[in-house]
Amino acid sequence: MQTILVTGGTGFIGSHTCVELIQAGYDVVILDNLSNSKESCVDRIKEITGVGVKFYKADLLDLESTKRIFDENKIDSVIHFAGLKAVGESVEKPLEYYENNIGGTINLIKAMRDANCKSIVFSSSATVYGVNNKVPYTEEMTTSATNPYGYTKVMIEQILNDMTVSDKDWSVVALRYFNPIGAHESGLIGENPNGIPNNLVPYIAQVALGKLEHLRVFGDDYETPDGTGVRDYIHVTDLAKGHLAALEYAAENKGFQPINLGTGNGSSVMEVVKAYEKACGKNIPVVVTPRRAGDIAESYAETSLAKKLLGWEAKLDISKMCEDSWNFTMKNPEGM
Ligand code: NAD
Ligand code: UFG
Repeated sequence: MQTILVTGGTGFIGSHTCVELIQAGYDVVILDNLSNSKESCVDRIKEITGVGVKFYKADLLDLESTKRIFDENKIDSVIHFAGLKAVGESVEKPLEYYENNIGGTINLIKAMRDANCKSIVFSSSATVYGVNNKVPYTEEMTTSATNPYGYTKVMIEQILNDMTVSDKDWSVVALRYFNPIGAHESGLIGENPNGIPNNLVPYIAQVALGKLEHLRVFGDDYETPDGTGVRDYIHVTDLAKGHLAALEYAAENKGFQPINLGTGNGSSVMEVVKAYEKACGKNIPVVVTPRRAGDIAESYAETSLAKKLLGWEAKLDISKMCEDSWNFTMKNPEGM
């Protein structure tokens, strides 16, 4: 049985991936500093799977603690979710983002190298396609960014790529996520944003709960079918399963491989609002406001590489994503 170290494993995508890993028979070790998640998530994972995971409250910026995890466990492969992820905050606190995301990753790579563990699946983002590429985004397009968060993803991909050039034993899969939403079907784990959410679906969920008055629709004058922004929303459970396929790919293939994880279909803000209204049986009031700085009209994935290399494709549609988000929100109105 293989042991997988999941950094950021108590976070939104990490926790769903831990569930899928355990259900597929992997041993899971979680490293998380709990800066954006809670330890109770470990209990929730156990409640869903019936299996306990080994949890280390540790910070990747602490190299010694990170190394100790590799000394105490025989880690076969790493899935690396840990990082800060709020675009707006990264503009205000660039140093914190560069230090945490890049510094943390460099420490992780050092600890892996010393332990001779050279297989890693990294959480990248569609944000690396920047603003100059045309949809659908394909993996060979040039990467760029418009904010410090995005640059951390571009740079970490570069660093990981350089590792595979310097040492042919490394296997790196950089998964470029589109817009992950939804929650585990059980309603036990889901997305837990602190304060007022920045992202569309967590915001709508708070409106549906009655905690926020209305959704601000950031622009209805884009060149899209209904004028509102189009994104490739993907159910977090589909996304989690993509990581298992990527682990298997990394076990068989050396080198650096970026792969999109999306559905290939775009939904507009208003389409998501309609789907959510149906899921929760409530009206979601909206107010159209000017565009949000830095937003693009549309973003969706070309998904054929994931199909070809991983044999993976997303299965769950926007209705299911909204139903599971609402189920989690109702069961956890104060968060997890
Ligand atoms: P999340 O904040 O829920 O999870 C990240 C976890 O990492 C948190 O539990 C946090 O406590 C932990 N963490 C942060 N810095 C750490 C450090 N230095 N040491 C140890 N733990 C640390 O975020 P998520 O939505 O699950 O995202 C996971 C990854 O996927 C991130 O790298 C993110 O940038 C990337 N990603 C997310 C999205 C999205 O929309 N959610 C889209 C594209 C890419
Ligand atoms: N939107 C609103 N109102 C809101 C929030 C969002 O109208 O209150 C709109 C946005 O303008 C956009 C769409 O809803 O058209 C989706 O916005 P999100 O903030 O949910 O997601 P983004 O596509 O802007 O950002 C996501 C991730 C980032 C990542 C980016 C690019 O959150 O981490 O995709 O991959 F960088």
